[in-house]
Amino acid sequence: MTAFKPLVFSGVQPTGNLHLGNYLGAIRKFVALQADNDCIYCVVDLHSITAQLVHEDLKGQIRSIAAAFIASGIDPEKHIVFNQSAVPQHAELAWIFNCVARIGWMNRMTQFKDKAGKDRENASLGLLAYPSLMAADILVYRATHVPVGDDQKQHLELARDIAMKFNLDFRDKIRASGTGVDILVGDEPVHAYFPMVEPMIEGPAPRVMSLRDGTKKMSKSDPSDLSRINLMDDAETISKKIRKAKTDPEALPSETEGLKGRPEAENLVGIYAALSDRSKAEVLAEFGGQQFSTFKPALVDLAVNVLSPITAEMRRLMDDTAHIDAILRNGGERARARAEKTIAEVSDIIGFLR
Ligand code: TRP
Repeated sequence: MTAFKPLVFSGVQPTGNLHLGNYLGAIRKFVALQADNDCIYCVVDLHSITAQLVHEDLKGQIRSIAAAFIASGIDPEKHIVFNQSAVPQHAELAWIFNCVARIGWMNRMTQFKDKAGKDRENASLGLLAYPSLMAADILVYRATHVPVGDDQKQHLELARDIAMKFNLDFRDKIRASGTGVDILVGDEPVHAYFPMVEPMIEGPAPRVMSLRDGTKKMSKSDPSDLSRINLMDDAETISKKIRKAKTDPEALPSETEGLKGRPEAENLVGIYAALSDRSKAEVLAEFGGQQFSTFKPALVDLAVNVLSPITAEMRRLMDDTAHIDAILRNGGERARARAEKTIAEVSDIIGFLR
């Protein structure tokens, strides 16, 4: 459907510790996509000041996301890893998108409503414009595919709305510039400058839930550290958290049907399945009928085996900040070269004299 060259883009905010949910839900997907795609992975530091302006150690947080990407197997030479503020073209395109998007579109975003809470008048203007910057992150590279969690779907729809309005409002100028591409949007042929981004939400990535409450997502903002496995946790801590994880008194079922109404059991089986690249059914075929007292130690072993090389590599990288900074700088330069081309073309389409 799209005649644009396929390009994968995604971003992770440098706030809080990365946990197993981030790893299984996002980073592992980013790693897998490298084999068949051109990929750009960005630490979105500009987004991190929308909800909270002052951060204790933002530089350290940015480095730790980059370290997690690389330690998990993202190749910063074949692909691009960088931080958003190193490429000012993101903010430049976001400004243009602020003039494309309507205030009503932004007011309808559920993430804005959640994060702004009751006192909307007191939310930063940046928090309201957050989705416009996110659209710019993707479209400044004219990226086509975006691996994200389910919670980002609405933001990607908004990115499509922005792209569509720009494509239609500037239709004649895009044609005159010779930089557009013919695409189909539904059955409608459109001469487009920006692609209609495709979310990549499906796939085997499980919803990783809290270890203390199987109905809540594993989250960096949960006050209990026992609720999550952090990527920087050592083997001892991982073991303790899994041993203390909430369960029910029943043995494991032999089939996935039997997980219904047992959110904690379902979560632990899901984590085991994801970490071992198997289905829940396969895991239950092995562990069905067994008690958590046998399943949990197996899960500890598996989690430690998968995570400890990543943790070790992350720590090694974090001890060599000059090395990480050099990787980010290099990625930033390569990203900027691509983004500059888009900004030059967009400026020409709009009619800025530069
Ligand atoms: N909003 C995303 C999140 O919270 C992070 C993000 C910013 C992003 N820009 C992006 C994700 C561009 C994908 C593409 O998860």
